[in-house]
Amino acid sequence: KRSSDQMIIDAGQKHFGAVVCKSCGMIYTAASPEDEAQHIQHHERFLEGLRYVGWKKERIVAEFWDGKIVLILPNDPKYAVKKAEDVREIVDNELGFKQVSLSCPAKTKIYLFVSNEKMIVGCLVAESIKQAFRVLSEPGAVPSPGQDALQHHRAWCCSTKPEPAVCGVSRIWVFGLRRRKGIARRMVDVVRSTFMYGCYLSTDEIAFSDPTPDGKLFAMKYCQT
Ligand code: ACO
Ligand code: ZN
Repeated sequence: KRSSDQMIIDAGQKHFGAVVCKSCGMIYTAASPEDEAQHIQHHERFLEGLRYVGWKKERIVAEFWDGKIVLILPNDPKYAVKKAEDVREIVDNELGFKQVSLSCPAKTKIYLFVSNEKMIVGCLVAESIKQAFRVLSEPGAVPSPGQDALQHHRAWCCSTKPEPAVCGVSRIWVFGLRRRKGIARRMVDVVRSTFMYGCYLSTDEIAFSDPTPDGKLFAMKYCQT
C-alpha cells in the first residue's frame, strides 16, 4: 500500500509518466486511468473533427500523390464554411489561441490539406493584409555580452517600420504524425499561386503572423528557398 501511495505522490511532483500524444497533442499521465479515459475522449473527438466527408463542387486547388488541397471561401455553402471553421477551432485550440476571432472573416481564405484517407492533415488560414512588420532579431544569434537571460529568451522582436505585404498567414498547422513531409510547404506554395488571381506572390508579399517556434523555423526555411 505504502509504495503505491508513494508512486502517486511522485507522479504529481515529477510528472512521472507524462506523455504527449503525437496525434491529438494532449499531455496526460499514462499511469492514471482517469487521465487515460480523458485522453481517449479528447483523442476521438479530435480525430472526428478532422474527418473530411467532402461536398459537391469542392474547390480543389492542388492534387498530390498523398492528398489534395481544398480552398474554402467566405461565400461558399454553409456546410463548407462550417467545416473550415470547425477545423480552425481545433487548430486554434492546439496553438493555444483562445477565442481569437479573425480580423476580417470576409477576407479570409482557408486551405485544407486532405489526405487520401479523407482526413484533414493540414490547415492554413490566409487573410488579405496591406502591411507587415519584419521580424528583426535572428534566432540563433549570439546574445551580446551582458544581455540578460530574459532578453535572450524573448526570441524575437519586430521592426516598427511597416512594409507592404499582400497575404497574411494567420495560422498554419499540420497534423502531428504528418509533419516534415512538405505539407506546410505545399500549402504555402498553393497560397502564393491562388491567393491573388493571376499573380504568383513572392515570399516578401507573404507574412506569417505571430509565429510559434515551429512556425518560425518553417517560415525561415521556406522564405530562403
Ligand atoms: N523544426 C525545424 N525545421 C522545421 C520545422 C521544425 N519544427 N518544421 C519545418 N521545418 C523546416 C524544415 O527545413 C523543413 O524541411 P525538411 O523537413 O526537408 O528539413 C521545411 O521547414 C518544410 O517543412 P514542412 O514539412 O513543409 O513543414 P510541416 O508540414 O512539418 O509543417 C508546421 C510545419 C506547420 C510549423 C508544423 O510543424 C506545425 O503544425 N506545428 C504546430 C503548429 C504551429 O506551431 N504552427 C505555426 C503557428 S505560427 C502561424 O500560424 C503563423
Ligand atoms: Zn491522443
